[in-house]
Amino acid sequence: MEYSSTQSEIIFSTQPEIDIESIIGQYHAGKVYVATEENVFKLWFDKLPFLKSLPLVVIPSGEENKKLSSVELIWEFLSSSGSDRKSLLINVGGGMLTDLGGFAASTFKRGIDFVNIPTTLLSQVDASVGGKTGINFRGLKNEIGTFNIPRSVIISSSFLQTLDKKDLLSGFAEMIKHGLIYSSEHFYELCNVDFDNVDLKSFQDIIRHSVQVKEYFVQQDPTEKNIRKALNFGHTIGHALESLLLEQHRPVLHGYAVAWGMMAELYISRAICGLDPETSDDICEWIGSLYGNISISADDFEELYKLMGHDKKNEAGRINFTLISSPGNFEINQECSKELIFESLRFLQNRKNPEND
Ligand code: GLY
Repeated sequence: MEYSSTQSEIIFSTQPEIDIESIIGQYHAGKVYVATEENVFKLWFDKLPFLKSLPLVVIPSGEENKKLSSVELIWEFLSSSGSDRKSLLINVGGGMLTDLGGFAASTFKRGIDFVNIPTTLLSQVDASVGGKTGINFRGLKNEIGTFNIPRSVIISSSFLQTLDKKDLLSGFAEMIKHGLIYSSEHFYELCNVDFDNVDLKSFQDIIRHSVQVKEYFVQQDPTEKNIRKALNFGHTIGHALESLLLEQHRPVLHGYAVAWGMMAELYISRAICGLDPETSDDICEWIGSLYGNISISADDFEELYKLMGHDKKNEAGRINFTLISSPGNFEINQECSKELIFESLRFLQNRKNPEND
């Protein structure tokens, strides 16, 4: 199997318990280790006998464990089990675990190979693909990390059967983003997904289309110097909303914040990139029907603006937006006045929550 430093091999598997062993066996002769998280270990490892038979370390689940002491646990485990530079680490879990395990592997003995097996939709379509690894540090998300491409990513929608609707929707927001920035075909395919009745087998093809969009950007621009910034659509405002809600002790899943961030950035896209207002309204209606609407007050706007200013994607002190001119067509490095940002926040604030109708 071919491997290049800017490209992972992405494998879509319908029977992970069988495929994982043959995939790993085919290309890796060195020692193999596993890092996973508690919830995934409990739910899945009895059904994954090959992985269970390997030396493994289990990290407590939860974003709060995406921290340096968890990286130390993985380093200690690798070191004390005799791992060398030819060893392979298999990371099995959600985005927290694949980011953490990727970072531990990237830094252990100056870097060993790793494979990601993402078990949440968010990590399948986003976190585990594209080589961003890292941990949170001093309250800042992904403050410490590396760009380091996993050798392979093994994706199976069968893992999603243990997720609830909210977790599925959290990952789905990144898929909507992929459609909106690069593929109207993918976007309209997503509009037909029935969330109360998801057929996971056919959903695997939809996941594949989404991952293809992400891979397109990663291959062109692995270290985010230019067009990979397109993947930040919805995230400039989305990350600020996510941080604000965390500060206010009413945390939300990442994808919900991104969904609301996309609504606000669609509003800005109308003003700056000429996005058709009717199309924008229709998309916002649909996103609102899935994610509801966020409750924020005008008193939050200054804090949100300050949080946007801290985004590590900003350049030369200016807030950097990715916007769209139509579904499937993005524009990077867009500047936006404070006034228009506040207008977009008012737009979010004034939307009616369909659940309250
Ligand atoms: N999550 C956006 C990126 O990987 O660039």
